[in-house]
Amino acid sequence: MATGAEFDAGYLRWRASEAHAALIGEGLPTRVQPFSFVPLAGLASVLDALALSPGQTLVDLGCGRGGPGLWLAEQARARLIGVDASRVAVADARQRQHLFPTVPHACFTVAEVATTGLPDACAHAVVSIDVLQLVDDQPAMAREAVRLLRPGGRLALTTWEGSGSAPQRFPRDLAGLLADAGLRVDAIVEQPAWAKRQYDIYARAAAAAEAGGDPAVEDLAAEGRRAQAWRHAVRRVLVTAHHPASPQP
Ligand SMILES: C[S@@+](CC[C@H](N)C(=O)[O-])C[C@H]1O[C@@H](n2cnc3c(N)ncnc32)[C@H](O)[C@@H]1O
Repeated sequence: MATGAEFDAGYLRWRASEAHAALIGEGLPTRVQPFSFVPLAGLASVLDALALSPGQTLVDLGCGRGGPGLWLAEQARARLIGVDASRVAVADARQRQHLFPTVPHACFTVAEVATTGLPDACAHAVVSIDVLQLVDDQPAMAREAVRLLRPGGRLALTTWEGSGSAPQRFPRDLAGLLADAGLRVDAIVEQPAWAKRQYDIYARAAAAAEAGGDPAVEDLAAEGRRAQAWRHAVRRVLVTAHHPASPQP
C-alpha cells in the first residue's frame, strides 16, 4: 500500500494541475479540492450522520488536503483535527484553512491513522473519507477510531467493500471489522450514484490524458484503468457507527 512519502509525490503532482482538481472536484466547491470520490450530496449525508453540534470536535482520519473535513466542520460550526501520513497534504491543509474562516478551530497533524497520538476520547465524531482501503492494518485503524471517540460519539466512513476477485486491500466484512473494534454499526449503505460519478471521472480523465502532458491527469486515468479490473467486485459504501457507551451528560 502507498506510504506517506508516496502520497507526498502524488500530491506534488496533483496540486500542480488545475485539470486534475476540476476532474476530481466536479460538483464540489473549488476550495474543497478533495482527493476522493464523494459527491457534494454524499458529504451532506456524512454531515447528517456525524450529527455534530456547534463547538464539538471532529477528527478526520486521512484528511488529505483538508477540504472535505473543513467543509464538514464549517457546516456544523465544529472544531476540526485532521490527521494524514502525507506531509505535503498536511501542509496544503494548513494553507487551505483560511478559506473556511467560520470554522472555530482547525489543526492538522502528520501521523498514521492507526496511531494518531491524539488524546483518548477527544472526538465527538470521527470521519474518514476514502482512506480505510489504503491502510495496512485496518483493524488497528478501527480501534483507533474507538479510542478517539467520546462515549456515544459517531463515526462516518466512506470506502469500498470487496468480494471475489477484488484486491485484498478492500475490506471484505466492514460490519465485522468495526464490531470487532468495539463499535456499534448503524448502517452500511451502498452508494451507486457515487460509484457512477467515480467511473465518469475516470472516463473524462482517460479522454483528457490522450492529449498528454499532464502527469496528474495521467495518474487519474491510470487509476481508472486499474479500477476496471475490480469494478464489479466492490461496492461503494457509506458506513455509519457509534461508540457503544452512552453519551455523558
Ligand atoms: C484518497 S485520499 C483521501 C483524502 C481526503 N480524505 C479527501 O477526501 O480528500 C487518502 C488519504 O489517506 C492518507 N493515508 C493513506 N494511508 C494512511 C495511513 N496509514 N495513515 C494516515 N494517512 C493515510 C493519504 O496520505 C491520503 O491523503
